[in-house]
Formats: sequence, C-alpha cells, structure tokens
Amino acid sequence: MEVKEALLKRRSVRKFTEKVVSEEHINELLHAAMSGPSACNKKPWEFYVVSNKDVLKQLQSASKFTKMQAPLAIIVCGNLSHALPLKMADYWIQDCSAATENILLRATDLGLGAVWCGIHPQKIAEKKVSEILGLSKKEIPLNIILIGHPAESPDARDQYDEKRVHFLK
Ligand SMILES: Cc1cc2nc3c(=O)[nH]c(=O)nc-3n(C[C@H](O)[C@H](O)[C@H](O)COP(=O)(O)O)c2cc1C
Repeated sequence: MEVKEALLKRRSVRKFTEKVVSEEHINELLHAAMSGPSACNKKPWEFYVVSNKDVLKQLQSASKFTKMQAPLAIIVCGNLSHALPLKMADYWIQDCSAATENILLRATDLGLGAVWCGIHPQKIAEKKVSEILGLSKKEIPLNIILIGHPAESPDARDQYDEKRVHFLK
C-alpha cells in the first residue's frame, strides 16, 4: 500500500472479530513503531504487548474510553530512564506518539484495525494501567492501542482544511 493510501485509510476501528493477530503481524507492528524518529534518537519507549484475555479485560476498565473488546493491545510507554534530561524529558511524549502513529499506519497497511486510546496525562488511568502491567516508576503509559481484525470499516477520508494552513511569503 502506498503511504498516501494508508494515511487516508487509517481510521479508528473499535469493533474487532475474535481472530487473533498473528505473531508475524505483531512483529511487523513493533518494527514499524521503533522505526520512528525520537529526539536525539533517545528512543525512550517500551512496548507492552497483551493478548491475555484477563489482562485485556482489566485494561478495558482503565478509562471511560477504553471499553472496547479487542484480541490485542499494545501499550506504548515512555521510559524516563532513557529520556532526555530535565526540561527536555517531556520529549518522550512526542517520541512515543510518533511510534504510535507508525503502529496505526502499519496496522492499516496489514489490513488490521486499531484505535489509539489515550492514557497519559490522565493520572487515574495512568495509575490503573501501571498497576495492571506492573510498570516501574520510570515507565509512563501514553496509550493503549487496541488492535485486531476489523469488524467495521470506516471510510477513508481526507481532512485537509486550507483554513488551517498559513503560508508565510
Ligand atoms: C491522543 C489521542 C487519544 C485518543 N483516545 C481515545 C480513546 O480513549 N478512545 C477512543 O475510542 N478513541 C480515542 N482516540 C481516537 C480519536 O477519537 C480519533 O482519532 C478521532 O476521533 C479521529 O477519528 P479517526 O481516527 O477515525 O480519524 C484518541 C486519539 C488520540 C490521538
């Protein structure tokens, strides 16, 4: 699939079939994630891959907006042990967001469906996810990406809006 096609086809999918996501596909998603850019190439990320049904169920209660059932979740976490120092540390959020978008685009390319469910900066949700996964104090969950074979297919779309573009000539 061309990059342009994947960009337009990528939509949030919230309904999945029960079919499991293959190890090959999981591997592809993780490779895509770690191909992303990061500030000073610090790669301050950790990826928790969950296919255990009990853990998936627990993750559904992380926030009001994570109630969907999916056969796979990848939780993208910032690892402050690998982040830039002091005021630059927050770049982990952008680094992990870039990795997340790569996962979403590769999922589209592979014919999978996925949705980015935000966790950080919701403190209560962060705490719940940290407890469920047994994260260290240095690891902050940015999101839960729910992934599976799609049972719905939202239309591809182009959201281009010329009013939001400012050419300085
Ligand atoms: C930071 C962030 C947090 C999001 N959190 C949730 C969420 O908790 N639950 C959910 O169903 N969708 C979530 N979404 C998906 C958005 O609702 C979705 O991207 C948006 O409505 C645009 O639709 P599209 O992804 O189909 O283009 C989130 C997206 C982003 C970027």
